[in-house]
Amino acid sequence: YVTYRFIIPRSPVNPNTKKEELKVVDKFDIEELGDSTAFCRCWRSSKFPYCDGAHNSYNISCGDNVGPLLIKKKK
Ligand code: FES
Repeated sequence: YVTYRFIIPRSPVNPNTKKEELKVVDKFDIEELGDSTAFCRCWRSSKFPYCDGAHNSYNISCGDNVGPLLIKKKK
């Protein structure tokens, strides 16, 4: 027998972004991004998928260490 163990999260990773959608997917044309763009990875930004700094209070509240994904154009 093979036993599979599944980890069932106690709370969702995404607390409130586009919950009406089956899956949250965002698409961008790389040419349309500015010189530097910060994308949210904590799922707490009010400007999701962009970072608005909400990760700072989130990290303090729960002891996590998440931060944005920074995309920069090469100069
Ligand atoms: Fe989510 Fe900054 S607000 S990573």
